[in-house]
Amino acid sequence: MEAERVKRIKQLQQEKDAVILAHYYVDGDVQQIADYVGDSFYLSKVATQVPQQNIVFAGVTFMGESAKILNPEKNVILVDADADCPMAHMVTVERIRAVREQYADLAVVCYVNSTAEIKAVSDVCVTSSNAVRVVKNIPKKHIFFVPDNNLGRYVAAQVPEKEFIFHDGYCHVHKSILAEELKAAKKAYPGAPVLTHPECTEDVVELSDFVGSTSEIIDYATESACAEFLICTETGVLYELQQKNPDKKFYPVGESQICPNMKKITADRLVQALETLAPVVELSEQMIRDAAEPLKRMLALAK
Ligand code: 13P
Ligand code: SF4
Repeated sequence: MEAERVKRIKQLQQEKDAVILAHYYVDGDVQQIADYVGDSFYLSKVATQVPQQNIVFAGVTFMGESAKILNPEKNVILVDADADCPMAHMVTVERIRAVREQYADLAVVCYVNSTAEIKAVSDVCVTSSNAVRVVKNIPKKHIFFVPDNNLGRYVAAQVPEKEFIFHDGYCHVHKSILAEELKAAKKAYPGAPVLTHPECTEDVVELSDFVGSTSEIIDYATESACAEFLICTETGVLYELQQKNPDKKFYPVGESQICPNMKKITADRLVQALETLAPVVELSEQMIRDAAEPLKRMLALAK
């Protein structure tokens, strides 16, 4: 990012008492200027610890909503209100109520990639980095995992003592990474470990050497002695992978590992959001109260 713009952003942050949080999928120049960059879990924890009154969230809507739910007294500003995760809308309150009626001993486990409305009727939230740990700590036998089918199945395989009911939500970006493409990439780069996000389909996960959240993928590659890696997640992670590992090589395997919503978060939009402190996340007090419970339970169970 040009020095002039960096200066402008820093000046606006001072004037407006604003902190910038960014997810690893946004453009590299936005990651570069952000105060904190991380995976969904890290960002939700950081949001509860920053002193600034204004939290500017460079990520998709559900991330900003989670920050607001955990910090109702703060202003949470989305860099682009249209940057929404389609998977967050792939389950309904009615479906959750219907499944609840079928099982006496049920916990509704809601992936953080979900709307506030869905969180409000769930028992506990999870992110990709804590889902296995959190689900293991839930006392109930039946787990209704919403909305992501792939993450649900990945977690279920590691928690065989529970009985899972799955939903059919998915991330179109991770689903577009095909096992056939990965097999071809493995032939082209023999010996390169395959690092995969658990939103990928089961056949891609099975061909992988490591499965984890965006931060976990970055940590794995950074600690590894290998020189090249195949990356099965959104290509925004390549920025931090390359920053931390300038001598290593990282190859995406699919044609379209790009989240169009995360890419709406640009440096221009970031400057506008800081100038106007808008658009803010707006949720009713009741919604915040109801949706806070499963998020707080996640923070406690993930410890
Ligand atoms: P992480 O929690 O691993 O950063 O993932 C967020 C996400 O949206 C994955 O598609
Ligand atoms: Fe949603 Fe997939 Fe984009 Fe993540 S990569 S924000 S799950 S659409």
